[in-house]
Amino acid sequence: MRVAFVGAGRVNFGWSGDPWDHATRLENINPLIPLQVVGIFDKNTELAHQVLKQRLEGTNRSETQRSIWKDAKIFSSLEAMIKEAKPEAVWIGVPPAAHGEIEKLCVSAGIHMFIEKPISCGTPETVEQIHKMLHSNPKVVVSVGYMLRYSKAVDYIKDFLSSRHLMPTSIMARYNTAYPSIGSKMWWDQRTSGGPIIEQATHFCDLLRYFGGEYDPKTVQAISVMSNEPVGLLSNVPEGVEVGVPEKYKIPRAVHAIWKFDSGAIGSLSHGVLLHGQKYHTEFEIWADGYRIFLREPYTSNCEVIINEKVVQFKDDDMYYTEDLHFLKTIQNPSLNLIRSPYADALNTYKLTWRITKEAKYQTTKAKL
Ligand SMILES: NC(=O)c1ccc[n+]([C@@H]2O[C@H](COP(=O)([O-])OP(=O)(O)OC[C@H]3O[C@@H](n4cnc5c(N)ncnc54)[C@H](O)[C@@H]3O)[C@@H](O)[C@H]2O)c1
Repeated sequence: MRVAFVGAGRVNFGWSGDPWDHATRLENINPLIPLQVVGIFDKNTELAHQVLKQRLEGTNRSETQRSIWKDAKIFSSLEAMIKEAKPEAVWIGVPPAAHGEIEKLCVSAGIHMFIEKPISCGTPETVEQIHKMLHSNPKVVVSVGYMLRYSKAVDYIKDFLSSRHLMPTSIMARYNTAYPSIGSKMWWDQRTSGGPIIEQATHFCDLLRYFGGEYDPKTVQAISVMSNEPVGLLSNVPEGVEVGVPEKYKIPRAVHAIWKFDSGAIGSLSHGVLLHGQKYHTEFEIWADGYRIFLREPYTSNCEVIINEKVVQFKDDDMYYTEDLHFLKTIQNPSLNLIRSPYADALNTYKLTWRITKEAKYQTTKAKL
């Protein structure tokens, strides 16, 4: 299969220590599904050349891994890549504000898309338009990168609940970022990232929906700590990332949100941009009749599920590999329908993150008046 990348940055190519990196997953999926990378498009062509060179020449790569890159070319325009390289599928890993035109060009050329979250940072109406456009060609397979839906630990909890006919009563997600390690200016400006709920906590909002189902938008309440409040002052912000960003567009330092699901269950999210060092704190908890189900560090190899007193570890799981494999297998045989995060569903997660962001800003500003 002829595949290509849109975006030569971290999510597609990984930097040292990143758990993501679709390029390596594709190298490892080949030859189970024979793949040939035919193009890399990035506005920053220098970076694209650099990552391709690393893939072709880097040490610690087997011949099979290197072989998928031998026909790859670098492109400075997507139109040119589509016309000349003719990819059948693309991995789209670009900043949130860059979505829309890319999807439009790909769908009209009939190219299958793996789209990294978040699917946008625009208004929900803008994203509805992208959805309609994608829907116009139902033959195009679209998968959105909510990789936690492919995690074995998440599968384990799903099976546990369904085998006991248990419905969650209360679901809580907590995410605290080690902020000094985030050096991207885009991330620290709400105009380009949408803010940390849209850009980052979206994974947990999606997981809350994956377990809780749909929610009533009218019940969403949220509040935040803004960057200029005494308790929002941070001592270790990477140099330069907030220079020139007006106060109102700086990201909140903490957000709490609550809402009610259509099932009647209640959901809550706490997000913080407060930790130093490298290590994030991520945990997800479900309470149901007789049970506390706790998912710890779902992003890492320390991932474990604790159900009341029982601990189950999930050390060797690679959910990024699984989501890429499911996408490719569904392209090969659409009737398998292995996509766990189709665009229509990701759109509902996007609407939840948008609502929390707006509600938090409104409530917080009102409280300060
Ligand atoms: N699922 C995950 O675990 C995960 C992990 C990391 C990042 N992400 C998401 O992936 C997306 C990209 O993040 P990243 O860390 O790779 O960012 P990055 O800044 O490292 O890379 C983005 C690349 O996109 C390029 N780009 C920007 N606008 C473009 C355009 N219009 N056309 C072509 N190229 C363009 C940039 O030059 C850059 O090289 C973000 O939305 C992020 O939230 C997801």
